[in-house]
Amino acid sequence: MNVEVLADKEAVAQRAAELLAAATGHVALAGGSTPKRTYALAAERRSDWRGVTLWLGDERHLPLTYPDSNACMVREELLTRLSRENVPRFELVDTGCDVEGAAADYGRRLRAALGDDGGLDLALMGLGPDGHTASLFPGKPEVGEDHHWAAAVPEAGMEPHVPRVTLTLPVFNRAKLVVFLVAGEDKAEAMARAFGDPPDTTSPAALVRPAPGTLLVLADEAAASRLTA
Ligand code: 6PG
Repeated sequence: MNVEVLADKEAVAQRAAELLAAATGHVALAGGSTPKRTYALAAERRSDWRGVTLWLGDERHLPLTYPDSNACMVREELLTRLSRENVPRFELVDTGCDVEGAAADYGRRLRAALGDDGGLDLALMGLGPDGHTASLFPGKPEVGEDHHWAAAVPEAGMEPHVPRVTLTLPVFNRAKLVVFLVAGEDKAEAMARAFGDPPDTTSPAALVRPAPGTLLVLADEAAASRLTA
């Protein structure tokens, strides 16, 4: 595990954008607000995204037109900044069916794309103050899902309290590279629990340990302020 502590949120976004712009193959994107700047910067850094397939590490089970939809955010921050002929393939969660069906469909499609033993080339992940990542919330049964590639989360553990679809830990842990983007004092305790020594394994983020892939944690000084050396 490598932890890079950067000066501030903008430096985290710049470093993450550098890695995202260099990505090839299958990439799972994080939702929420932290990665927004990363996606905008990555679109500035790279104009031709053909050959890349974007997935969502998790999605809120909402119409794509809703601002809380992660797909809506990715479209606004990344895709709309690219010319039409250079956009990546973007695999959306089917929010037109029930959340269980959407999760089964998404997991099936990802498995078909990667192959039974395949892994994502890159997974960008965020960290919630409660230690959740993607939509794997502390104490929820989906954290332990080790068969299906995606799981339905009927009750999210944090705002927005809408059903979610999330990729599961085995998928993240088969990724070639997992990059966490963490910024802000409000994430300091979750950072210490997830990436401290020893990690607190009640935090779902502490269970993301790709092998033989690489784990890189990008954090600003505020988020890393309680991380012991
Ligand atoms: C989501 C995200 C979630 C997010 C964390 C951090 O759909 O909400 O995937 O896991 O990464 O909640 O969110 P912020 O970056 O907004 O703090």
